[in-house]
Amino acid sequence: MKILYVTSEAVPFCKTGGLADVAGSLPPALAEQGAEVAVVLPLYQRVRERFGNELKFECYDYVDLAWRHNYCGLFSLEKDGVTWYFLDNEQYFNRGSLYGQADDGERFAFFSRAVVRMLDHFKFWPEVVHCNDWQSALVPIYLKDDGVREDRYRSIKTVVTIHNIEYQGRYNPYVLGELFGLDAGWAKDGTMLLDGDANLLKGAILCADAVNAVSPTYANELKMPYFAHRMEGIMRQCSNKLSGVLNGIDMKLYDPRTDGRILKNFSLEDMEGKDACKAELQRMVGLREEPHTPIVAMVSRLVSHKGLDLICEVLHDMMELPMQLVVLGTGDQRYEDFFGWAAQQYPGRMSVRMDYNEDLSMAIYAGADLFLMPSKSEPCGLSQMIAMRYGTVPIVRETGGLKDTVQPCESWRDAGNGFSFANYSSGDMLHVIREAVYLYKDYPDVFGRLRQRAMSCDFSWARSAREYLRIYATITGQTWPIHSDTRRALEVSEGEAAPAEEPAPVVEAAPAEEPAPAVEAAPAEEPAPAVEAAPAEEPAPAVEAAPAEEPAPAVEAAPAEEPAPVEEPAPAPEKPAKKTRKAASKTASKADKAEKKTEKKSTSKKGTAGKKKSAE
Ligand code: GLC
Repeated sequence: MKILYVTSEAVPFCKTGGLADVAGSLPPALAEQGAEVAVVLPLYQRVRERFGNELKFECYDYVDLAWRHNYCGLFSLEKDGVTWYFLDNEQYFNRGSLYGQADDGERFAFFSRAVVRMLDHFKFWPEVVHCNDWQSALVPIYLKDDGVREDRYRSIKTVVTIHNIEYQGRYNPYVLGELFGLDAGWAKDGTMLLDGDANLLKGAILCADAVNAVSPTYANELKMPYFAHRMEGIMRQCSNKLSGVLNGIDMKLYDPRTDGRILKNFSLEDMEGKDACKAELQRMVGLREEPHTPIVAMVSRLVSHKGLDLICEVLHDMMELPMQLVVLGTGDQRYEDFFGWAAQQYPGRMSVRMDYNEDLSMAIYAGADLFLMPSKSEPCGLSQMIAMRYGTVPIVRETGGLKDTVQPCESWRDAGNGFSFANYSSGDMLHVIREAVYLYKDYPDVFGRLRQRAMSCDFSWARSAREYLRIYATITGQTWPIHSDTRRALEVSEGEAAPAEEPAPVVEAAPAEEPAPAVEAAPAEEPAPAVEAAPAEEPAPAVEAAPAEEPAPAVEAAPAEEPAPVEEPAPAPEKPAKKTRKAASKTASKADKAEKKTEKKSTSKKGTAGKKKSAE
């Protein structure tokens, strides 16, 4: 199986959020299971500076987009069994920050168009192109666009992963031609139109063969207005090709037994190091050194959807409990002000660092006792998994990936791996915080077993990679042969428990022991059809004309993931109208039932300039 993974960020090259962690770990995990994987991302300034020496120049070509004809260089690097490609265009990417610039739409249109243009230059012709979020949402659209597509693109299936539906890539529909080189028909027939805006993510969702959210619960939530940022109708319409695949974490990078970033290592069998880490954390952030007072921690962007309003409402009630609180993160001014002020009210008991600091975050994961994430919505969330790995028991609201990774503690039968509450209510949150704090204080052995269960969870990428391979197999109609090694590992780790389908890790009373040595496994030879050869499911009703949404008033620009304020000026300059290319191949479109754009007029259109309404 040949997979081209398209992303706008990936660890260790460039990162603004969780997407980078996923894009850094999933491709190697797919490769480990035998897939051929290449990743493609922009060659940002920071990548050039830090990895320039390791990059190999492959070739260059030119990318035509609307009236523009731009250079695109191709560099590569081999790492973890994956080829990492970087697309070079200094005008677009040799800048200090990844996003938050006035011309983001043009930059990522170039990137997406260049991915398609450079298909000939990659080491293989992909069977699946896997895109992520709005920045690469144009790829599945270009692959089907009359002006771009070629017959041979029809062999390529597409997957779109939604990491956070809040960021959709919304623009004034008048710039469709000018900025994206697309015919106005894409908006007129509704495929790329939502609330009067041209919407890149909506177009991608409709065009892709499979769509997934980063947790099963988030995939369901996306069908509800509360979570979907106006996309609920589209998500419901596409529910036959929508699934949820829980992210993993890098279990080697985050391993308390070997992690060199923490003061003292520890493990399930020997938890002494955790006490040392706790004392160290208390010293570092100015909390009283009290070994028997639980430390509740937050490492979070200080923004509204992280549920901070709940904490603001009941902070003083929380601080009446015998606990300490440490908060690390930056974000909205109002939260920074509140937490800064609150910390002064509780010297020695509450500490706040407005910062993002990797060392301190690791000290917190390792040294704290409880990890608070009361998010209003959380597509997956990685911090709760990292916290659990380090024996810091999560307290979460039951939403998205938090619900899928944290099972509430039931002390009476030693089950669960954390604490949770369902309603977005400060009273409910306070109730479980109280429960957690007193379990820690009054029943240390019960809390100790809970902590052990949290630490024993398997959040490895291998599980998620298998689910993605199953999706790829479904849309390509292939039977995915499981590696004999993987199969053996599967049999050992999943043995009596979790059926292959199970999304979330099993958290019933974890065996304290280390995974038993390999059991007799399947004869190394036969490739065993891992997944039921997906009945060549209908390749997703690609592009059903979306119901023409009523042109509602302009949408608020979604807040940029990256805090960086928009400083660059340069709204797209006024440019001459351009002729849209004619549909390339009539024969191809006949066979392709997905092509709903046959009716699209390929007349020339005016790419009215500028006025990009919303830059993500
Ligand atoms: C986004 C989501 C986060 C998720 C991450 C990786 O940042 O907000 O919940 O863990 O993407 O998929």
